[in-house]
Amino acid sequence: MSNDKLIIFDTTLRDGEQSPGASMTRDEKIRIAKALELLKVDIIEAGFPIASVGDFEAVHAVASQIKDSTVCGLARAKQSDIERAGEAIKPANSGRIHTFLATSPIHMEHKLRMTPDQVVDAAVAAVKLARNFTDDVEFSPEDAGRSEPDFLCRVLEAVIDAGATTINIPDTVGYNVPHQFGDLIRTLIERVPNSDKAIFSVHCHNDLGLAVGNSLSAVLNGARQVECTINGLGERAGNASLEEIVMAVRTRQDIFSCDTGIDTTQIMNCSRMVSGVTGFAVQPNKAIVGANAFAHESGIHQDGVLKSRETYEIMRAQDVGWTTNKLVLGKHSGRNAFKTRMSELNIDFATEEELNEVFARFKDLADKKHDIFDEDLLALVQESAQETENEVIKLVSLRVCSETGETPHATMTLNIEGEEKQAQSRGDGPVDACFKAIEELTGINVNLQLYSVNAITTGTDSQGEVTVRVEKDGQVINGQGADTDIVLASAKSYINALNKVLNHQDRTHPQLGNV
Ligand code: KIV
Ligand code: ZN
Repeated sequence: MSNDKLIIFDTTLRDGEQSPGASMTRDEKIRIAKALELLKVDIIEAGFPIASVGDFEAVHAVASQIKDSTVCGLARAKQSDIERAGEAIKPANSGRIHTFLATSPIHMEHKLRMTPDQVVDAAVAAVKLARNFTDDVEFSPEDAGRSEPDFLCRVLEAVIDAGATTINIPDTVGYNVPHQFGDLIRTLIERVPNSDKAIFSVHCHNDLGLAVGNSLSAVLNGARQVECTINGLGERAGNASLEEIVMAVRTRQDIFSCDTGIDTTQIMNCSRMVSGVTGFAVQPNKAIVGANAFAHESGIHQDGVLKSRETYEIMRAQDVGWTTNKLVLGKHSGRNAFKTRMSELNIDFATEEELNEVFARFKDLADKKHDIFDEDLLALVQESAQETENEVIKLVSLRVCSETGETPHATMTLNIEGEEKQAQSRGDGPVDACFKAIEELTGINVNLQLYSVNAITTGTDSQGEVTVRVEKDGQVINGQGADTDIVLASAKSYINALNKVLNHQDRTHPQLGNV
């Protein structure tokens, strides 16, 4: 059996970000891109540069900082989009432009108002223009899953001739089913005369819950690139989940004649980071990365696993980065032990000051919490990164009173641009009182869309990780905070979101439908 490479194209930062509420700042994108690089994804689609200045800057920054993965920018088949994408990926060691144009009768007639001939010409022109910026050009016939195969063959032959090196077949609306999508891929590879000059890729949406099944069926029929996202994040029901594709192919090497270059031990790290940044919690029974994915509750299963792991387990939890809440450090651990463990977690500090700053946070946490786990360390790093991104409002102190029969109230001191201010507020609960005090002190009113608390580890001394999603003038922004005191974690997350509002770092996306 030949063992081809299956290319993993991650679009968490582009299609994933298009999911309502999952908007990311430039710095968050850089952090996730670095985690994806450690995961060894082949291509990172970092954004849609024409969408906004913020998105352009994010793609440009990711292209400047990522060395091992190819960095890709999305562009409609339009001159302005392609030039903007070309500019954004310029600093990349290896850069790709991904251009797309719809080919289904319904999209051509109602959305594009273009004839099939015009679509072929525009697609060819887009690919030729993109080749002026990079030799690595991907073309997607949008809504390919509902396009006429004959017309698809015509478009694909023309764009490969024009210089497209990857042909991506999207099931844009998640309409296809596995055997039929696999047949489509095989037919295209067989019928497009120059198909050997391009890699065939697939991009599946999960509207019918079939994104992973369709992608795998395509791989069995010759696709050698899969587009996917961490945790299956993406528009509507999401995109194909990276971790499920990678682990299916890795676990079933008896069936797949290809494998990815992914370092699967980094999967949990990426999953937690994406969930933390976007506020999209992972469902407990989600394959691979859900909290129960490797938990055996029933007596029969537990007995079997204890006798021989293979009786009920087809993968090892540690192979995808689950640590068994391993105690790593404690109150008496020194700076060296801390630095070594961080380095084992692939976290290296750019300067001694950075190391000292996170070490001081670790010592504070160790005073409050006896056992410190890897998850706690990752949360510390995330918190420190967030604060250096946003410095305008800082929490100085918080006192909250909550008593049976009394209205909870909070006394909050914030440092706002160097000046300390204090306010007292009452609320329906301690968190509500806190948020009201923050609003009073900052004078910023936002629409709270989401408030969620997750325990980072097990036990009642676990740090609580709070995510808030706020809306201000049409911009949707996520904030995070972690602490053993969940009211404090809540205050930190709200302040984090408001700092982002002040920094104007987030952006909105044009709908892809408005081509
Ligand atoms: O779903 C889709 O069709 C897309 C394209 C831009 C590839 O995201
Ligand atoms: Zn998509």
